[in-house]
Amino acid sequence: MIRLKTLGLAAFMAAVAVLPAAAASGHDNKTPERQSWSFAGPFGTFDRAQLQRGFRVFREVCSNCHSAKLLSFRNLAQPGGPEFSEAQVKALAAEYKIQDGPGEDGKMFERPGRPADRFPSTYANPEAAKATLGAVPPDMSVLAKARTYSRGFPLFLVDPFIQYQEHGVDYIYSLLALGYSNDKDPNYNDFMPGNRIAMANPLSDGQVEYTDGTPETAKQYAKDVAAYLMWMAEPKLEERKKTGFKVMAFLLLFAGLLYFTKKRVWAAAH
Ligand code: HEC
Repeated sequence: MIRLKTLGLAAFMAAVAVLPAAAASGHDNKTPERQSWSFAGPFGTFDRAQLQRGFRVFREVCSNCHSAKLLSFRNLAQPGGPEFSEAQVKALAAEYKIQDGPGEDGKMFERPGRPADRFPSTYANPEAAKATLGAVPPDMSVLAKARTYSRGFPLFLVDPFIQYQEHGVDYIYSLLALGYSNDKDPNYNDFMPGNRIAMANPLSDGQVEYTDGTPETAKQYAKDVAAYLMWMAEPKLEERKKTGFKVMAFLLLFAGLLYFTKKRVWAAAH
């Protein structure tokens, strides 16, 4: 019996020792750098100014190739997001031409965008994008949640407890700001699986104008656009965290009440 137990333990220890090695082999990707984000942790909230800057970067740079099919203009004015004013969103939407129809003559026509319209894509379909760009640029609506990376054993066991939920944004930030490390090869990236990426570095210093005095550097753009992508992927993040706090507070209170109820109910027993 004892021999069996020790054998089992030895096998388990051996398996544990092999696990990280197995996870690390097969690619020479770097692990994304963990950043500090305003929306991390149980009380996290988005930084409105950062989301507004991030939208600027998304709109002026990324949306030339990437779509964001789940985004409607009006979302940009909703609580918990960049919170542009209704008037700003109306003016922004009107800058775009949206196909509508058919009209009374049976033909499709173009009209200025309205807040209820979806954010238009540059390419009509993924095939058209691939034909021009060499690869399909993934839709950005939920990209920050769809991308992740393995932190390996034992960190993945710890993450739920330390409330680390920013793997996706950390990956996106690292890919953009730190990953293009080979000057001679624009398609090399330290963080892309397999290290090959069809997208050359889309960001450079001074490319997007900021009106709030924030430094106009490629790194800052990467940070802001990553935060913006997080909001697009989880527009109700703030609400979720607030609800979570209320639930925990309630459960704590309820546990206390139950404890005293139990004491009372059983007090007469002896
Ligand atoms: C010139 C077109 C172009 C622009 C501009 C562009 N991208 Fe891309 N992007 C692509 C293509 C194409 C891919 C697919 C790459 C591949 O599969 O190798 C891609 C892939 C990505 C990926 C996915 C990597 C992965 O894990 O699959 C991320 C993240 C990304 N882009 C972010 C951005 C951000 C943020 C911006 C704006 C700052 C941006 N891109 C601007 C074309 C572009």
